[in-house]
Amino acid sequence: MDSAALILPSFAKINLHLQVIGRRTDGYHDLCTVFQSISLHDELTITPAESLILTCGDDRLPVDGRNLVVRAALGLQKEFGVTGGAEIHLEKRIPAPGGLGGGSSNAAMVLLGLRKLWKIDASIDALHPIAESLGSDVPFFLYGGTALGMGRGEIVEPIDDFVKKYLLVVTPDVAVGTRDAFKRLNARALTKQESKRRLQNCRFDLESADFRYTAFKNDFEISVFAAYPEVERVKSSLLDLGAEPAMLSGSGGSVFAVFDTEETRQAAFKALDIEVNWRKFAVATISRSEYREALEQVL
Ligand code: C5P
Repeated sequence: MDSAALILPSFAKINLHLQVIGRRTDGYHDLCTVFQSISLHDELTITPAESLILTCGDDRLPVDGRNLVVRAALGLQKEFGVTGGAEIHLEKRIPAPGGLGGGSSNAAMVLLGLRKLWKIDASIDALHPIAESLGSDVPFFLYGGTALGMGRGEIVEPIDDFVKKYLLVVTPDVAVGTRDAFKRLNARALTKQESKRRLQNCRFDLESADFRYTAFKNDFEISVFAAYPEVERVKSSLLDLGAEPAMLSGSGGSVFAVFDTEETRQAAFKALDIEVNWRKFAVATISRSEYREALEQVL
């Protein structure tokens, strides 16, 4: 291994809460969400090289400009006039698509990793516009931990840590497209003023919420469950196995479940062995300080 290589974990997220406020005129939706980093992660290895090369352990993923990793590297090169390259190797574990932000996390880690490799003198705030141009969820991964996401999701505001050790994330073999999931909501078009007021209310509620007692909600559940009954079956199986709560992450199809103890989680994990087409992961939440520690080489 090249001594100059950077090896970075690229953590997944779940959405503890996701409220779609309304449709905007630019084709996006305003939303109010709570992002939470979890321990499930991909691994990125970044090595100095003359040109830009991406390789991936999973040959089903594109390694050209369709991959957000490449777009992130090109975006950074363009913004800061970088002429050097890098070899980036991606080992995937986070199911994609799955509502776990895998591709967005990879893109954010490439921004942080290449900022270091190319010795770019830019703050996290300066990386934010590039992150935002790559995707609505990308900016969150520059911060990690527990955070509110507003607007398209790109306005990120860190909030108190939500600590849960015994989670399961279950991803059925169903590809839910984010764009279609938003369309299926048939959300009302709101004026800027209405949107702003609703966002402010939601933000106020979430900033003061205690997630131990507040009911989780994801506005995608009804329409995603209607279109993909298998995803609803994942949620009801997890509830039957004692999860409190179990909820869709992002636009799915992954469902996360919170358990009280390691024993109940393990029993649920084992009971789900019969579902051969469901991928399942025993994970914990990652706090902002744990996130920073894991990424200390680049943050
Ligand atoms: O931002 P990102 O590229 O991840 O979004 C993918 C698609 O999801 C967008 O093209 C849009 O159709 C939809 N979307 C949305 N509102 C958001 C985020 C995404 O309508 N807040």
